[in-house]
Amino acid sequence: MNYLLVLGREPKISLAELEALFSSSKVKQIASNLAIVTAHSLSLDRLGGSIKAGLILDYPLQDYLSNLPEGKITLGISDYSTRANPRKTWELALKYKNLLKRHGRNVRLVPNGKSAVLSSAASHHNQLGEKTNHIEIIKFGKYTAISVGTQNITAYAKRDQARPARDAFVGMLPPKLAQILINLATEGAKSGTILDPFCGTGVVLQESALLGYSVYGTDLSEKMIDYSRKNLDWLFDKTQKLQKSQAPKIQLEVGDATKHQWQPTPDFIASEIYLGHPLSAPPADIKLKQLQQDAKSLLSDFLRNLGKQIPAGTQLALAIPAWKRPNGTYSGVNILDELDKLGYNAIKYRYASYDDLLYYREDQIVARQIIVLRKK
Ligand SMILES: C[S@@+](CC[C@H](N)C(=O)[O-])C[C@H]1O[C@@H](n2cnc3c(N)ncnc32)[C@H](O)[C@@H]1O
Repeated sequence: MNYLLVLGREPKISLAELEALFSSSKVKQIASNLAIVTAHSLSLDRLGGSIKAGLILDYPLQDYLSNLPEGKITLGISDYSTRANPRKTWELALKYKNLLKRHGRNVRLVPNGKSAVLSSAASHHNQLGEKTNHIEIIKFGKYTAISVGTQNITAYAKRDQARPARDAFVGMLPPKLAQILINLATEGAKSGTILDPFCGTGVVLQESALLGYSVYGTDLSEKMIDYSRKNLDWLFDKTQKLQKSQAPKIQLEVGDATKHQWQPTPDFIASEIYLGHPLSAPPADIKLKQLQQDAKSLLSDFLRNLGKQIPAGTQLALAIPAWKRPNGTYSGVNILDELDKLGYNAIKYRYASYDDLLYYREDQIVARQIIVLRKK
């Protein structure tokens, strides 16, 4: 089956995630923010980088509309075509409403307002693609797809903001980015243990557990291990699917990632390493050099230590720091040249170069550079 994916704020990162989960040959970028994925099934809950997904129809839309199950219909339309405009989209919505009315159906249209596409918030709040007869038609050029879901922003916000143990100083890794790291590391493997050797308050561990992986967290700070434990306990209490007897295993211990011996050996590593102190302005050149040096030595000492403990082929996805320059560009940790010596290869993606895998908000001084490595 072919799915139309609407990519998130960083489309290249979203594409890398799709390539990791479905393999490059099954992913095709068709516009700056759209891709087609060929897969047997696809769940948006698994994806951190895509915001909407629809199953592409290979038969006329009219046929689909005339065969909907009984009951009231909620209908929304998003047209991502280059020449789409809000008025035309609304006219199309009215046309489909009339067609359905002629079949005796009761229809509520979701207004698209000043845009030709429904925002992911509008789609999500109207449960389009999530409930029977809550339908979103997603169009792009010759493609027509029926939504199978929108990013669950309510669930993300709950997981992010309602966690009992939070630490502004350690910084908040967005759950979406944690999911992306997990997908880049595991490439969708069904089970296994994910290690986060800089686990902080446990965002990566939480998202890993939700995806059904066993989790292993270590951190230099005892306080952070306590926080991770509190957050995981809270998540297990709150989440029905984690309460069952086959809930994933948790292992947490204090440890310096540059020296620690992890036992048992993890299957995958997903982590945001220590990003250094939060900054309120771009660092001056001398300060930047120091920050880069510190991050590089932490990263290479960690990779050297880990490399002695994991078998060839083990995959790691890491978020490492990059700093904003006064001219608005970002300057990162120069680790690529060292990888060979350290015993790793960097994974390459068809649609995203190394520099494309930079995750940041305009107002952030410290950005996250994503690197995906495989032990040689
Ligand atoms: C940015 S936080 C990690 C966030 C975390 N990945 C998450 O999912 O919430 C970085 C953490 O690295 C820890 N840290 C710093 N140096 C370390 C080291 N050498 N070994 C292990 N942990 C370290 C800090 O205590 C901090 O909790």
